[in-house]
Amino acid sequence: MFIEISNLKKSYTSGLVKTEILKGIGMELNKGEIGVILGPSGSGKSTLINIIGGIDRCDSGQILIDGLEINSLNDEKLTDYRRKDIGFIFQFYNLVPNLTVGENIEVVSNISKSPLNTDEVLASVGMTDKKFRFPRELSGGEQQRVSIARAIVKNPKLLLCDEPTGALDFSTSRSILQLLQQVNKKYGTTILMITHNTAIAAMANRVYKVRSGEIAEILINEKTIPAERIEW
Ligand SMILES: Nc1ncnc2c1ncn2[C@@H]1O[C@H](COP(=O)(O)OP(=O)(O)OP(=O)(O)O)[C@@H](O)[C@H]1O
Ligand SMILES: [Mg+2]
Repeated sequence: MFIEISNLKKSYTSGLVKTEILKGIGMELNKGEIGVILGPSGSGKSTLINIIGGIDRCDSGQILIDGLEINSLNDEKLTDYRRKDIGFIFQFYNLVPNLTVGENIEVVSNISKSPLNTDEVLASVGMTDKKFRFPRELSGGEQQRVSIARAIVKNPKLLLCDEPTGALDFSTSRSILQLLQQVNKKYGTTILMITHNTAIAAMANRVYKVRSGEIAEILINEKTIPAERIEW
């Protein structure tokens, strides 16, 4: 197992009120697989992947990522893990506005130990001809391609995606999903993706349905569907 989580708990306290957000999550995902997390707004999906990605910490539980127990790492080691092993893709791209496409990718590759080649990565997301453009000169789908390039250039073990197609139309979403599927195949990257779109679950090896901070159901797809055949 690449991801092995057991009894993960997380609560937030505001004033005197403590609210339990994650109530004992357990989940597993094999190396090289795609996992999709579905669930209503506020159910704890982003909190969960932020903890898996080392952006946030849990209160208790065990989180093994490729054999590494991340919950017991100190801050320095956790930052190391996040930088080295994790790629993040968000709904609203988060590109640096005053850097070109190429520079947005190089900022990341420059601090990585074994980065992929920037031009190779740009080619694999179909953005070679836009290398010298600024984010404001790109469509939403193109910006998301760049943010995927930025996430994969460091050759992460795990790609975490928080509603990567949430701000995109149908055909652009589908091409972004195809791209993620290609990354998964080409580099063997394990992918964990949050979505509100139940149709996307068909391309996942495992589907986790989250309800109020708990995993209500896990589905295992013996046969996954290529992204280009998904309709909604
Ligand atoms: N830093 C924080 N302090 C207090 N409460 C928080 C904090 N972050 C998240 N929450 C609360 O935790 C709950 C889960 O939030 P989370 O962002 O994980 O939900 P989500 O499933 O990703 O929702 P959405 O689909 O709307 O993105 C929400 O009720 C939210 O208000
Ligand atoms: Mg969220």
